[in-house]
Amino acid sequence: MINNLVRLGKMSWEEFTKLSTKNRAPYLSDDSDRFVHLIYAQQFNRDNLEYIGQLATKIRMMAKSKEGSDFLSTLLSDKRAMLYFTQPSTRTFLSFMAACQILGMKVAEVRDATTSSEYKGESAEDSVRVFSSYSDLIVMRTKLKGLAERMAWLLSNSKRLVPIINAGSGKDQHPTQALLDIYTLQRSFEDINGIDGKHIVFVGDLLRGRTVRSLAFLLGNYNDVKMTFVAPDAFQIGSDILEYLDKKGIQYDLSQNFKSVIPTADAIYMTRVQDEWDNEEGESAKVDISNFWFGDEELKLLQKHAVIMHPLPRREEISTSVDQDKRAVYWRQMRNGMWVRAALIANIFAVDTEILNFSE
Ligand code: CP
Repeated sequence: MINNLVRLGKMSWEEFTKLSTKNRAPYLSDDSDRFVHLIYAQQFNRDNLEYIGQLATKIRMMAKSKEGSDFLSTLLSDKRAMLYFTQPSTRTFLSFMAACQILGMKVAEVRDATTSSEYKGESAEDSVRVFSSYSDLIVMRTKLKGLAERMAWLLSNSKRLVPIINAGSGKDQHPTQALLDIYTLQRSFEDINGIDGKHIVFVGDLLRGRTVRSLAFLLGNYNDVKMTFVAPDAFQIGSDILEYLDKKGIQYDLSQNFKSVIPTADAIYMTRVQDEWDNEEGESAKVDISNFWFGDEELKLLQKHAVIMHPLPRREEISTSVDQDKRAVYWRQMRNGMWVRAALIANIFAVDTEILNFSE
């Protein structure tokens, strides 16, 4: 981590933000490519995705026994985490809390800026400096794009370099959700050649859904993946993602005909309408999304090996009648979040080798 402090500490915020996201990524890891901060999906490559997946599986297996759980809970028992969530969350918050507890960390939280001194006018920068005085890790969710990255830069330039993990930033990125999505795909396809060559279909509000954006970046690390983005015009995926896919030579389609793409899908990734980002009241409700829902009729079109995913929370876009089908993996996907987040934290604090070497 010291190396990272020196590297990032030599660069002003203005210089740093002039770099492309890809070129900024190395400054967020140390000289041995261990994550110092995790801010965006472009920090992942195929190797570290496979590695975090392997580590998550080992943690998952160890947690089944008391001996394994007890061992895990000693690893970071000298560390404290701050969960700084100023946007609503159920899964991400609770799974990070559980991940910290698995590794024995103590956890504190701020879940609402109106209950902190931000309400009295303290800046987010000053708040994060305060958290860094009391904690060894800050996990933050914010509606502000770029804030987590700025906080990472700030702490890398302070005397107390505390890692920042982005748990969702604006409409932009949700890298740890994408990580658990990749882990779910790895597990789902482990007997059929993994993620390479698969057709992933994204459905719903793709314009404002940060999970889709981060996952599209991660899928770019696999060979011969095809993506289809199924959405009404008003919610179609952003041009920056399409530019990225064009640059990487990744095959994709845009569609409004959901039923026509289901038979060739290996994974269907459903999303809800993100109306919390509406510019005016009721804006999203004007868009008809009923052709982008998944129910019993759509289930009949799905291949036997295919999976249905959703970052959750859901509304009406997946019928509850689908829940019992073995291809509906969204509950397992959600639980996977706890394992990959524990693996990520273990990687940041360099206790991963101890985990991988553990045998009962
Ligand atoms: N998927 C997800 O980020 O869920 P929460 O908003 O409940 O954390």
